[in-house]
Amino acid sequence: MSYSLNEKIALVTGGTKGIGKAIADTLHRAGATVVITARTAPKDGENDHYFIAADLSTPDGALTVSANLLEKYGRVDIIINNAGANTSPNGGYSTLSDEDWNHEFQLNLMSAVRINKALLPSMVAQKSGVIINISSGAAMLPLWDITIPYSAAKAALNAYSKGLSGELGPKGIRVLTVSPGVVRTPLMEEFIDNMAEAMNISTDEAAKTLVEKVGNLPLGRMAEPEEVANLVGFLASDEARYLTGTNYLVDGGLMPVV
Ligand SMILES: NC(=O)c1ccc[n+]([C@@H]2O[C@H](COP(=O)([O-])OP(=O)(O)OC[C@H]3O[C@@H](n4cnc5c(N)ncnc54)[C@H](OP(=O)(O)O)[C@@H]3O)[C@@H](O)[C@H]2O)c1
Repeated sequence: MSYSLNEKIALVTGGTKGIGKAIADTLHRAGATVVITARTAPKDGENDHYFIAADLSTPDGALTVSANLLEKYGRVDIIINNAGANTSPNGGYSTLSDEDWNHEFQLNLMSAVRINKALLPSMVAQKSGVIINISSGAAMLPLWDITIPYSAAKAALNAYSKGLSGELGPKGIRVLTVSPGVVRTPLMEEFIDNMAEAMNISTDEAAKTLVEKVGNLPLGRMAEPEEVANLVGFLASDEARYLTGTNYLVDGGLMPVV
């Protein structure tokens, strides 16, 4: 690791599992003090981070996290908005209720909007900070039968991140987006299980079907969470000080466009 995050305070939402856990561990190894959040606490001994319980699909969740973090540390230098999921039923437009659409936007867009709004005054006061919003390649590659509301919410997150970077650059704060492709996490395993059940096929067949559905995958495998975390750690560091307003795909070459 060629960068240091010594003396930085970092928040990783959804930091107990999958990509968020890998990011929290990576930032910690680089020297940061890390605060993680989720609805369910990690088991004792699973990590070295300060944990705050909150449901970030609600306005109260963001308030709980920001109040608790600021009371404990007084500031934050790095915000990783990672909590998110594709929670809508499969099957296309006719299976999707207003509640499905609303929940997808609350969890994948508004969680980041609210966390940033609550914590930005502290970053603006210190004239420095980095915000990294974890989006998805699905924003650019919506699959009609399995990801429409999720893709739309992540596309909105991309637009929000770009706009926010313009406002915050002059204040010394960088805003970036990282978009994983297909990553082997508990969320992905649950998604594949659901696909297998809905299609009445084995999980191996469902995993293969998913890779075929998303199309060409030059590296021929899903990413490991650490392969996303490696990029996030670098982007959060001063080594990336000229980078803001950009969206980075970590997708093994999956996206079929330039
Ligand atoms: N896995 C992929 O292939 C993939 C691809 C592209 C993008 N992504 C994005 O990467 C991010 C992480 O995904 P992952 O696959 O690592 O997910 P994961 O394994 O399911 O972990 C999600 C984390 O977020 C927390 N979380 C979920 N819902 C929450 C809520 N309502 N409020 C607060 N915390 C919540 C979970 O803890 P609790 O359940 O205890 O709350 C957990 O810590 C998401 O934004 C996802 O959209 C993933």
